[in-house]
Amino acid sequence: MKMNNYRFLFYLFISLLFQQLSAQTCLSPDGQTSIYFSLSSDGQPQYEMKLGETTVIRTSRLGFELKDDKALLLDFTIEDVQFDSFDNTWTPVWGEESQIRNHYNEMFISLKQTTTNRTMNIRFRVFNEGMGFRYEFPQQPNLGHFIILQEKTQFSLTGDHTAFWIPGDYNTQEYDYTTSKLSDIESLFDDAVTGNASQEQFSKTGVQTALQLKSQSGLYINLHEAAIIDYPAMHLNLDPESYTFESWLTPDAIGNMAYMVAPQNTPWRTVIASFDAKDILASRITYNLNEPCAIEDTSWIRPIKYMGVWWEMITGMSSWNYTNDFASVQLGETDIENAKPNNTHAANNENVKAYIDFASEHGFDALLVEGWNIGWEDWFGRSKDYVFDFVTPYPDFDVVELTTYASSKGIELMMHHETSGSTRNYERHMDKAYAFMKKHGYHSVKSGYVGDIIPRGEHHYSQYINNHYLYAVKKAADYEIMVNAHEAVRPTGVARTYPNLIANESARGTEFQAFGGSNPNHTTILPFTRQIGGPMDYTPGIFEMDISKLNPNNNSHVNTTLANQLGLYVVMYSPLQMAADLPKHYLKFFDAFQFIKDVAIDWNSTVYLEAEPGEYVTIARKAKNSEDWFVGNSNGNNKRKATVDLSFLEKDKKYMATIYRDHKEAHYKTNPQAYEIESKMVSFQTILQLLTVPGGGFAIKITPIQPE
Ligand code: NOJ
Ligand code: CA
Repeated sequence: MKMNNYRFLFYLFISLLFQQLSAQTCLSPDGQTSIYFSLSSDGQPQYEMKLGETTVIRTSRLGFELKDDKALLLDFTIEDVQFDSFDNTWTPVWGEESQIRNHYNEMFISLKQTTTNRTMNIRFRVFNEGMGFRYEFPQQPNLGHFIILQEKTQFSLTGDHTAFWIPGDYNTQEYDYTTSKLSDIESLFDDAVTGNASQEQFSKTGVQTALQLKSQSGLYINLHEAAIIDYPAMHLNLDPESYTFESWLTPDAIGNMAYMVAPQNTPWRTVIASFDAKDILASRITYNLNEPCAIEDTSWIRPIKYMGVWWEMITGMSSWNYTNDFASVQLGETDIENAKPNNTHAANNENVKAYIDFASEHGFDALLVEGWNIGWEDWFGRSKDYVFDFVTPYPDFDVVELTTYASSKGIELMMHHETSGSTRNYERHMDKAYAFMKKHGYHSVKSGYVGDIIPRGEHHYSQYINNHYLYAVKKAADYEIMVNAHEAVRPTGVARTYPNLIANESARGTEFQAFGGSNPNHTTILPFTRQIGGPMDYTPGIFEMDISKLNPNNNSHVNTTLANQLGLYVVMYSPLQMAADLPKHYLKFFDAFQFIKDVAIDWNSTVYLEAEPGEYVTIARKAKNSEDWFVGNSNGNNKRKATVDLSFLEKDKKYMATIYRDHKEAHYKTNPQAYEIESKMVSFQTILQLLTVPGGGFAIKITPIQPE
């Protein structure tokens, strides 16, 4: 052997030894989930994740490309490693349970880039059911302000898993899910892209988080992020050759991703993994990686069951706008007051009062009224900056009269602020708009961001616009206002810190059932994806599936059965639940409407009974401050018998169950309104077998029988 070869072997030995020394492992509290951190031979941070002996994430690289600066990728050494563990239980203001345990082991790695003398730290938190890590940039002389051009966080998978995905898009999340092998994403991508008022994809292998995956051996893996604060939302771009996803952030108008000012941290990158799909739903990693509640007095934050002057506009039966006189409106100049009413304007005194009467009679808390304020004549698709002022009602909507009337009937009106994506305009009017709400007794606002964002060129999920959404939530808290933001960035558990963010839409909601329909199994996937970050204002409760009955010009069909719609009140967790259909449809199916009236919206505990993404989800929840349980099921494309094991009930109690389920002849398309209601005595020993049809489901109310 030549001397050179000896030298080579020596260096190889030293470098392997060094790598060993610089490798670190962190186990979850139960020892099952493990993270292995190391540096590559060229000094790039990398990690690997296992569940028991099964590899969840293969060795995957970490780092950043920076603008006009050396990348934070190579030449790192480990300066310091610290381990810690944490176990506490916190009480959410609202939620799927009244107590949440936050139990993890932590590994903190401090890295120095030798060539630049810059510090980048990585903090891992390893839970029994998964893990999160984030990058931390402490105060330091050589890294103060920097611009991230791309985050290079990788998630290398072990094979051609099945993915439940929607196209990566900087401006919309309102897509149906495609279920496919990773290797088929590229060829299916174009078909997966359906129309939206604002959309921009970036890669034919780009998808959104939360991304649900399933390996061939039955391992469920969920990739998402927690705590998007002052940072763009992360998409994932697949390398189909290596089954490696790499982070792909949402850029600003000039292509930069994030403007960082040390000390600053990124959001957490999360991986939940289990061989049982139910564990993915039960995980609270996303909330646990967010900061505790920042609002001292939360007594004004409360769950809401509401109706809306809404579905009639969504279906095109009536309109948001008051007049058809003007092709364009200059607020303050165009004479709306004296314009000719179009007679289709839904938010008029008489109609709103009729809804108030109905909502009050049936025990609702609130009524949403959209289209109450001037500006809807040219509200979207015009890149109009000053589109709404949020305080001037149309001539046929009397704020004082209606809020007084509502309050006399125990109903609160819910405010609506459509911004049309003009975030600058909204911020300018926000204080006045919230003060107006306070003055008139509104305590909650549904906001919306339809259409391209202004400032022009910005995206719905860029750092700047994410900061806008949080600004609105924080400012609302100053006025004791709860926020339900549609089209805003997908939630990442930030509602733990700001629980007045009571819901988001931020996915394909029920409105799309009136815009051509959604896949029948849509709500068997949403709990695994969109809802990993927080509650969705899905707006269920549609009883009339044939939309042409509401508007002869709209041939859309709601692709679920009526019993499925009832099940969604339990399956699609939210402290904000809507009964979205028209009052006359509830009168027509009055016995089924009873479930919507009865169902709780805040929970003491939750039991996940059955779950398979794309196929079925069955969940039982115990109401807060009550002995009542509610069970909901959403079924996918295939007829199936669900098994509902009631062993969660108390052993010494007898219960009465009222079951709302699909008739055996029901079908989402051909016979959606065929349901049966049955009451029977049950106990902890009962196991119900319930038939569910394609696009079907069921709902059950279980109440203790009081001893005579
Ligand atoms: C889209 C929202 O999702 C929908 O609920 C609302 O009615 C319209 N925007 C108008 O603001
Ligand atoms: Ca929407």
